[in-house]
Amino acid sequence: MGGARLCAGAVYPVGRSVAPSPLYIRRAPGGALAVGRAPPRREELQLWGKSSKAKEKKQKRLEERAAMAAVCAKVEAANKLFAFFPLLQLEDPLEAFPVFKKYDRNGLNVSIECKRVASLERATVDWAFELTKTNMQTLYEQSEWGWKDREKRDELTDERAWFLIAREPSARPVAFSHFRFDVECGDEVLYCYEVQLESQVRRRGLGKFLLQILQLVANSTQMKKVMLTVFKHNHGAYQFFREALQFDIDDSSPSVSGCCGDDCSYEVLSRRTKFGDGHQLPAAGHCGTCCH
Ligand SMILES: CC(C)(COP(=O)(O)OP(=O)(O)OC[C@H]1O[C@@H](n2cnc3c(N)ncnc32)[C@H](O)[C@@H]1OP(=O)(O)O)[C@@H](O)C(=O)NCCC(=O)NCCS
Repeated sequence: MGGARLCAGAVYPVGRSVAPSPLYIRRAPGGALAVGRAPPRREELQLWGKSSKAKEKKQKRLEERAAMAAVCAKVEAANKLFAFFPLLQLEDPLEAFPVFKKYDRNGLNVSIECKRVASLERATVDWAFELTKTNMQTLYEQSEWGWKDREKRDELTDERAWFLIAREPSARPVAFSHFRFDVECGDEVLYCYEVQLESQVRRRGLGKFLLQILQLVANSTQMKKVMLTVFKHNHGAYQFFREALQFDIDDSSPSVSGCCGDDCSYEVLSRRTKFGDGHQLPAAGHCGTCCH
């Protein structure tokens, strides 16, 4: 125990002596250290108790910080091209799962690619923005968020953005999902920012297939859950996630946490992966899904 860490006025036992009367070390209010056999007085014991509580608190803080650093490292590793895979350096990580590269069912025949936004052509990003605007603008305007072109474009082109793109044989894109590896309320998660299909390819299982890919990616990168935000008044999508895909209402959702009052227009939904049973850290100050 280093002398510098002794509080003024506190008293500590020295070592684990079994001598008839143990030695105690004191720091006097002036700062000088003194060793003696006089046992601690009651007020000194209180100080000692306080100091060990402070140490416990500090230890807990350090443990929480270490756990959070481990969570962030996992997210970073996932971002480094699904780094837990043995197959590194793939331009498209889905190449490790050939069965998920194609969806050829219910009259649809599309191929699916997975890319970071930086590897997407400008025309594809513009298409994704326009499709999102067509599908979502009215729903956003009916919510407390409102619609802002600039914000949606910035979100879609953030360097952390990953995309699944479904293309017809002609290479024309017809559906996409924007997702990110992120930390939410202390958990490493795959956050699905968008899943958007052109109207002519809906209700043929493609949306479900894209979400299955996200679940697979989340499992492969050891994320704890797949999360997303859905407007309650987007009834079709709400049913799709809650009933068909069995997403739960996440603990961080305003209706559970109560953080945004009763009339919040959205829910945060989640589905755990096989890594999602462990203990959850207390939210470290900021919880991205609440009150923003
Ligand atoms: C929501 C969306 C992604 C669903 O994708 P999809 O390919 O049409 O859905 P699937 O065919 O995979 O549907 C699977 C099941 O989900 C349910 N479901 C899907 N869309 C539904 C809807 N509009 N109403 C009710 N249930 C629906 C059904 O149970 C469906 O099974 P079924 O067709 O055998 O009855 C798609 O409709 C879409 O892009 N909508 C516009 C954008 C949007 O709202 N995105 C979600 C933002 S959070």
